Amino acid sequence: MTSEIEPRTRVPYPDTLTTPLDVEIAVTRTTPRTADAFGLAVAAEGAVPRQLGLSRAALEANGFSAKPGQTLVVPRSDGPTLVAVGIGSATDVDVSRLRDAAAAFTRAAGRRSHLATNLADVGSDLDGVDAAAAAQAVVEGVLLATYRYVGLKNDTSGSPKLEQFTLTAAAAQEKAITRGAARGRVTARAAGFARDLANMPPAYLTARRLADLARQIAGEHGLDIEVYDRDQLEVMGCGGMVGVNQASVEPPRLVKLTYTPRSPKGHLAMVGKGIMYDSGGLSIKPSDAFHQVMKMDMSGAAAVLAAMSTLRDLKCAAKVTAYLVCTDNMPSGSAIKLGDVLTMRNGTTVEIHNTDAEGRLVLADGLSLAVEQAPDAIVDIATLTGAALAALGPEITAVLGTDDGFVDQVKDAAAATDEPVWQLPLETKRYKKLLDSVVADMRNIGGPYAGAITASIFLSQFVGDVPWAHLDIAGPMKVDGDDGWKSKGATGVGTRTLIELATNFRTA
Ligand code: BES
Ligand code: MN
Ligand code: ZN
Repeated sequence: MTSEIEPRTRVPYPDTLTTPLDVEIAVTRTTPRTADAFGLAVAAEGAVPRQLGLSRAALEANGFSAKPGQTLVVPRSDGPTLVAVGIGSATDVDVSRLRDAAAAFTRAAGRRSHLATNLADVGSDLDGVDAAAAAQAVVEGVLLATYRYVGLKNDTSGSPKLEQFTLTAAAAQEKAITRGAARGRVTARAAGFARDLANMPPAYLTARRLADLARQIAGEHGLDIEVYDRDQLEVMGCGGMVGVNQASVEPPRLVKLTYTPRSPKGHLAMVGKGIMYDSGGLSIKPSDAFHQVMKMDMSGAAAVLAAMSTLRDLKCAAKVTAYLVCTDNMPSGSAIKLGDVLTMRNGTTVEIHNTDAEGRLVLADGLSLAVEQAPDAIVDIATLTGAALAALGPEITAVLGTDDGFVDQVKDAAAATDEPVWQLPLETKRYKKLLDSVVADMRNIGGPYAGAITASIFLSQFVGDVPWAHLDIAGPMKVDGDDGWKSKGATGVGTRTLIELATNFRTA
């Protein structure tokens, strides 16, 4: 008799969302008895909080000078472990620094399950720091520093175990801190969801699967949704989507989401690059460390979907229409070839000179469709060019656009969320000629230089007269190690910027 192999019931690709950041958040007047660790803000000068029970000299003797992000764990025989959290010079403290301090506290607290801190309340004592914004930032810092993608780990014993987080607040600040903390919970959960999507293996998160998740999100968060498949995209003339997808076994999906408040103040459109896996196509990428992270080439679409999920909760006043342009980019016998010409949704013909410049091809269709809705402005977000990473490094997003007023709104949103952006010039007059094609309206790549700019000039041909800004997040889409509120892996960058942009959106 042959031995039998016992079957396993696990489906091939189970749900690996980590339902991130499911933490109970409370605001109280005094340190809760059940807290395991209490983070106390310590400025570089002035009085040391009495609760710490240590003098400035004792702190200094232990190497703690209250530099921003510095922590000192003070064990005690009873009551919560105290953690001194440096916030630097009180006059320089801003919301970003409080977010960083909360993240540092969280990392110092390790696997303790109930954390508490006075950090948000400290914000209210400082010039120019609003208590609600401080509380939001502190909650974001704590939750985002706790984030881990554990969906595929059998052993999660090394991961954070945070269950409860309490902010202590003086009576006068309690309302504002409660309001800010609630907002921080929403924004941090959204960024965590975007991280989950980008961290997920490419076989788990196909375009079809992302569309299914979008349907679920839309149902839960009051969004209208329409999903278009390959045949529909063909009929719609979305030559970029169909072309990039044509070597793939997995079909493409275009996801349109709409958030409509009662009496909308303005209409913003968002477009997210959703390349589920970017092999480069026939212009295949070398098998190096970057190829390895191309499952994250849908980080733009993830940020847009995550941001959309918050708009009802945050009572966004603007109408927001979003397009996720989703497909992978693969080589095969049916791949687009160099020299092929694609016709985009707006009729523009594009000659392919490099199949690895695929993001702009799918975005061309997404932007064209967005323009047809006649929104007041369009923002797109994409892991678009290695050139943006080369120019600005791994921490700064490139922003380019056609309208300085709208680009300024993006800059303000980015500053508030500490997702830094830097504007590059959209030098259409000088560099558009680099995209000239002999046979079509344009080719899909420029020359060897200014790649982030030529990619943006390409995109600008699809936005008509609508004020437009483009975020190239190729650099900050991931971090290689834990860094403050960023946890190793996908960062979910842009999610909080888009939320801030949408909820503060002003028309000219
Ligand atoms: N997804 C990549 C860009 C990228 C590179 C994102 C590194 C994150 C990290 C994009 O599709 C791409 O391949 N761009 C090419 C464009 C080139 C062929 C003009 C690039 O940047 O090399
Ligand atoms: Mn590519
Ligand atoms: Zn790509």
